[in-house]
Amino acid sequence: MIDPDRYIEMKRKRINRALQNALPAAGPPVVIKAMRSSLEAGGKRLRPVLTLAAADTFGVDEHEVIEVACAIEMVHTYSLIHDDLPAMDDSALRRGKPTCHRVFGEAVAILAGDALLTHAFEVLARYGRKEFCAQKAVRIIDELAKAAGVKGMLGGQILDLEAEGKELTAEQIEKIYILKTGTMLKAAVRCGAIAAGASESELVILTRFASSLGTAFQIVDDLLDIEGTAEELGKPVGSDSTHGKATYPAVFGCREASLKAEQFYRQAVEGLDELERPTELLCSLADRIVFRKK
Ligand code: IPE
Ligand code: IPE
Ligand code: MG
Ligand code: MG
Ligand code: MG
Repeated sequence: MIDPDRYIEMKRKRINRALQNALPAAGPPVVIKAMRSSLEAGGKRLRPVLTLAAADTFGVDEHEVIEVACAIEMVHTYSLIHDDLPAMDDSALRRGKPTCHRVFGEAVAILAGDALLTHAFEVLARYGRKEFCAQKAVRIIDELAKAAGVKGMLGGQILDLEAEGKELTAEQIEKIYILKTGTMLKAAVRCGAIAAGASESELVILTRFASSLGTAFQIVDDLLDIEGTAEELGKPVGSDSTHGKATYPAVFGCREASLKAEQFYRQAVEGLDELERPTELLCSLADRIVFRKK
């Protein structure tokens, strides 16, 4: 059994190499520079690692799905650039560096985000031109567009902003978590599995896994905003309470929120029992993702 920390480290390096070569070769220098600096600033690469791990679960090698993993990370990085804008979470630090708009100005940050989002789909179209990949690419493009869009991450981001300063129920908060965070984690896992030829029933099991994992992931993100340090996280702490964000820890306290995260984690890994494939890898990654310190 491979050590999950080693697996993450190995795949992260592979993803970083691929990302370096995946950006547009030409274009407005300032936008390309802003895209590259956000993309290469660091980041845990958990979503693309999950994409590769999902493919691995079906015996498919990383080189067959690396473009898909890169596209997921590009969309995620775009979402972070926009999430940090003054009109949204107004954040000065991301991945241990000044945020995109702080370095390049708001207009360039907006455009760099847009460019990463659109470029991700160009990367997927390129994947679709590989032998036997066209049909899978159409499906993956559909998955990622939906996950990022109004019924997914973007839909969650607007609910998150509208909820500032309001008292929400557990169900309402969970809905925000599922949309703003869960849909992209789901897409990461599902797209890797689709690229690897998973069946519909296998996708259903993986969807449940990723959905619970996504909620646990966001609860932990919210806990780290209270209990972590900016140095470790590479982003400001205390930002959720400053903005009056509706989070689990804010409503139920840190202890209850951390129990909730554990509950979603258990739900995620237990559901994988049904998958008639080796599941140790996904389970051990879920463990590292939920019980992370940054
Ligand atoms: C941050 O995601 C945004 C959330 C959905 C909480 P990550 O914690 O994965 O950020 P990076 O990619 O490692 O910077
Ligand atoms: C962001 O959630 C989710 C996204 C879709 C980017 P947060 O606003 O809590 O993420 P951080 O804490 O800024 O990374
Ligand atoms: Mg936010
Ligand atoms: Mg934020
Ligand atoms: Mg946060």
